[in-house]
This record gives sequence, C-alpha cells and structure tokens, in this order.
Amino acid sequence: MLVLGIETSCDETAAAVVEDGHTIRSNVIASQHDLHRPFGGVVPEVAARAHAERITALIDEALVKANCKPKEIGGIAVVNRPGLVGALLVGISAAKGLALAWDLPLVGVDHIVAHVYAAYLAGFHVYPHISLIVSGGHTCLYRVNGPGALEVLGQTADDAAGEAFDKVAQMLGLGFPGGPALSRCAEKGNPRAIAFPRANPNEKPGDSLVFSFSGLKTAVFYHLREPGKNTRALRTISDPERADVAASFQETACAILVEKTLAACRQTGIRDVAVGGGVACNRRLRALFAERAAQDLQGGRVFFPPPDLCADNAAMTAGLGWHRLSQGGRDPLDLEADPTPKRQG
Ligand code: KG4
Ligand code: ZN
Repeated sequence: MLVLGIETSCDETAAAVVEDGHTIRSNVIASQHDLHRPFGGVVPEVAARAHAERITALIDEALVKANCKPKEIGGIAVVNRPGLVGALLVGISAAKGLALAWDLPLVGVDHIVAHVYAAYLAGFHVYPHISLIVSGGHTCLYRVNGPGALEVLGQTADDAAGEAFDKVAQMLGLGFPGGPALSRCAEKGNPRAIAFPRANPNEKPGDSLVFSFSGLKTAVFYHLREPGKNTRALRTISDPERADVAASFQETACAILVEKTLAACRQTGIRDVAVGGGVACNRRLRALFAERAAQDLQGGRVFFPPPDLCADNAAMTAGLGWHRLSQGGRDPLDLEADPTPKRQG
C-alpha cells in the first residue's frame, strides 16, 4: 500500500510517499529557515502561513516524484501531535481535504514516535532497542519493542537538547538555525577549553535517565556575561574564544546524551541503540557514540539514520502511518491537532 505522509508540526513543510512502511518513493521538504532567520527563532504565525502557502504544491511534488497518481494512494498519514498548533492545523486540514476528495482513510501520527520510526525506515530492524530522540522540542529515551511500540525510560526535565544548541548559538551570535551553525563553529575550537557542568551534583553518575540542559545553558550564559555587571549584556569575544565555547558546550551536551543512553542500556540490558531527531545530525554526537559503543556495548551497535531522515520529514510519518492503515485503522475526519506531547509510560 502506498501512503501519503504530511508533516507540518514546526518549520518544515514536508510530504512523502512510502510503500508498505519501508520503501521511500518520494520525500520532499520545504524548509522555512530563511523566513525565521531575521527573528532568531521559529515564529508560529509565520510558520503556519508558510505551510498554508506551500503545502498543496509540495504534495503535488511528492506524488510526481513518486511517479504515482492519487488513485494509487491507499491512505493518508498526517502528524497531528505534538507541535505548534497553527502549523499542525495546516497539515491536518490538507490531509482531511484529500481524504474526503479521494475517499481515502486517514490516520493521525505522533511526531516523536515517527522520529523513532525513522531508524526502521533507514533499515534498522533490531528489537528491542533503546532509542534516543534529540530534537528542537524533545529529548527522550525509549525502550522500543517494535515499530511504533515504545516505553518511555526518561526525558528532559526542562530544555530539549536542540533548544540548548539553538540558545547557545544565539548567545554566540551564530544565527538561526543554531545547531548546525554551532557544530560548524565548534570544529575550530578546543572541546576541553572550558569545563561546563555535566550533571546535577546530587546525582550519582549514570543513575538517572532524566535530562536537564537549562543548567548547562545558564553556565554558558554566565561564562559569556559582561563581568562585574548585573545585566544580561554579553561581552565581546574573539573568534577563537567563540570556537572554544562552542566546542566545550557541544562536548558537554553530547557527553550527557551518550552517558544517559548508555545508562539506559545498562539498566535494561539492551545493547542496541538508534538515535533520531535533528540533533542526531551532529557529527560530534555520532563520533562520541561510535567511540563509546566500542567500549561499552559489547557487540551492540548505535544506529544513526541518514541526516534527511533524522531532521523533520514526512517519510517517517507515512511509514509509521502504514502500520495502522494496513490493519484497517483510521481516524475520523474531525481529527484534532494536539500541541502537547503525549505522556507515555
Ligand atoms: O527534529 P528536528 O528537525 O525538529 C524538531 O522536531 O524540533 O530538530 C531540529 C533541532 C534544532 O534545534 C536544530 O538546531 C538541531 O535540531 N540540529 C542540530 C544539528 N542539526 C540540527 N543540533 C546540533 N548539531 C547539528 N548538526
Ligand atoms: Zn522533529
């Protein structure tokens, strides 16, 4: 069965056609980075309007690239949670309109569960495994028992990892989107130049699976603050110092992600790991996982989908949606947008 996937939860308008939950026939994305860059972050109203302008043409493009006609599509999967509510509504409205016009079943898909599914789509079919999802809005550890079957092991108590990358990049004047810019800047810096805090001092190393990035972000802020002044003003720094701060922050953030994931492996006895979400594009994170996997996972592997399946995309939506659609599952045409993450477990 061919499934049309639609994703508009944040600032990427995306559509894809996936066959039987595994074969990507097309996967098209229109990024809105240029629109949000002047504001230094995603502006929800701007995102929703841009989705509305682009979604129809993008769905057409996904069908053309997949070389298929609407009558060959067997169902529609759309992200309806979590995300920016106005942005989600655009994708959901498009999906409902097409489901009605083409007389097709429709299912709503959870964006975070779809990020977990990206590993399956990229060929990683090992179960159970530990999944680390690191995106702009979420940082979660799951035990994954099968496609779409998850148990939450831990999540962030405050900021998401991607949010911390974005905020630190902003403090360093690196622009939007911050994560990739910070990662490029860090390549020229010394990751050991500044010892930023790694953990809650009351926590035994490796014990807790709860993440926290707000303290790290604040430590970077204090490091960059104008000395002797009780203001939010940041001091002027040289390019080499900027690179050192970026590299030291990145090293600390990546070490936290790797340590907690390995703690989840120890606690569950599971040795295989998949990583997903936009921050999974980070090269240092990939390298650190590779180093530590060799030492700590005794034959287990750490799998990273290719970058276009780590960042937001609709192929993961269509792939995950197929599992419900192919079992006869469907949602009613009054399917609603749910902006909050569903608490699992
Ligand atoms: O999964 P995603 O595309 O969208 C959300 O669901 O949020 O993740 C976007 C996040 C942003 O915070 C972005 O800065 C971060 O992923 N990101 C990175 C890198 N590429 C994207 N963070 C660190 N290093 C990167 N190379
Ligand atoms: Zn995402």
